[in-house]
Amino acid sequence: MPDTGGGGGCCMCCCRFIFTLGLTSLFMWLSLRTSSPDCLLSKFYIPLNQTFNSPNLTTTLEFELRLKNTNKDKGVYYDPINVTFFDSSNRSHFIGNFTVPKFYQGHKKKARKNFTIPNINREVVIQAIPVNGSPAFFRVDLATSVRYKILMFKTKRDKIKVGANIEVNGTVIKVSRKDVKLKSNAKKSRSYYGQMGVFLVEFLVSGLLSFW
Ligand SMILES: *[C@@H]1O[C@H](CO)[C@@H](O)[C@H](O)[C@H]1NC(C)=O
Ligand SMILES: *[C@@H]1O[C@H](CO)[C@@H](O)[C@H](O)[C@H]1NC(C)=O
Ligand SMILES: *[C@@H]1O[C@H](CO)[C@@H](O)[C@H](O)[C@H]1NC(C)=O
Ligand SMILES: *[C@@H]1O[C@H](CO)[C@@H](O)[C@H](O)[C@H]1NC(C)=O
Ligand SMILES: *[C@@H]1O[C@H](CO)[C@@H](O)[C@H](O)[C@H]1NC(C)=O
Ligand SMILES: *[C@@H]1O[C@H](CO)[C@@H](O)[C@H](O)[C@H]1NC(C)=O
Ligand SMILES: *[C@@H]1O[C@H](CO)[C@@H](O)[C@H](O)[C@H]1NC(C)=O
Repeated sequence: MPDTGGGGGCCMCCCRFIFTLGLTSLFMWLSLRTSSPDCLLSKFYIPLNQTFNSPNLTTTLEFELRLKNTNKDKGVYYDPINVTFFDSSNRSHFIGNFTVPKFYQGHKKKARKNFTIPNINREVVIQAIPVNGSPAFFRVDLATSVRYKILMFKTKRDKIKVGANIEVNGTVIKVSRKDVKLKSNAKKSRSYYGQMGVFLVEFLVSGLLSFW
């Protein structure tokens, strides 16, 4: 009878090795995967006294931004955040923009802050509001890049491009009391480390297949 014990032992050992490698890559994927921060607009107000024929050609735009780091154990380094406002959902006219300076946000931290953009063209805003007082939609777009802090390391930059339509009335103020969540048009893209995790799993599976 040929001795098959040795072969079996080798196979066991190999299985254990592959199992360990699998667990390690799963663990790595779980601890390296990141989720992008939530961006919300909680206030949007353009003071516009329409009954009074103001000599001022400009007004201001006031908004409050909320940013939430949704990661349990990773910090977020925000690059300068570009916030741009338009007078309609199809972005037909630019109203104003603002750049929030770069900052760091610890894990599970939230930030909310008011900003004011001066020198908003009154005419453009007035033209965007329907005369019959029916609500109109303005548009906000936000663009930035973030790096995540994992232990002592910084990941490479992840682009964030989100936006939302804001329903406003003639005042011009956001109609909904609720905060508007800014969303990405593109399908949620997997982060760099998510892709690396998938790559590792694929690598393992192909390794297993070629072994047998
Ligand atoms: C608009 O301006 C006029 C003149 O300054 C003022 O009397 C009026 O109260 C203002 N209306 C609003 C809604 O602020
Ligand atoms: C016009 O602008 C001046 C200076 O910015 C400001 O003090 C004043 O309140 C404005 N008037 C109106 C009616 O908005
Ligand atoms: C954009 O939207 C505004 C108002 O919603 C509309 O009047 C305008 O025709 C639209 N422009 C285009 C290019 O679709
Ligand atoms: C804001 O708008 C001005 C004028 O359109 C433009 O020159 C500037 O580059 C914009 N800034 C950002 C941060 O988008
Ligand atoms: C922003 O301004 C609104 C009032 O316009 C106020 O209720 C809110 O507390 C302010 N937020 C911050 C972070 O100061
Ligand atoms: C923000 O705006 C500045 C100036 O227009 C531009 O150089 C930068 O690339 C913009 N950032 C993003 C993430 O779009
Ligand atoms: C717009 O909404 C605000 C808050 O909901 C309200 O105080 C204001 O009177 C409204 N203005 C118009 C013109 O409907």
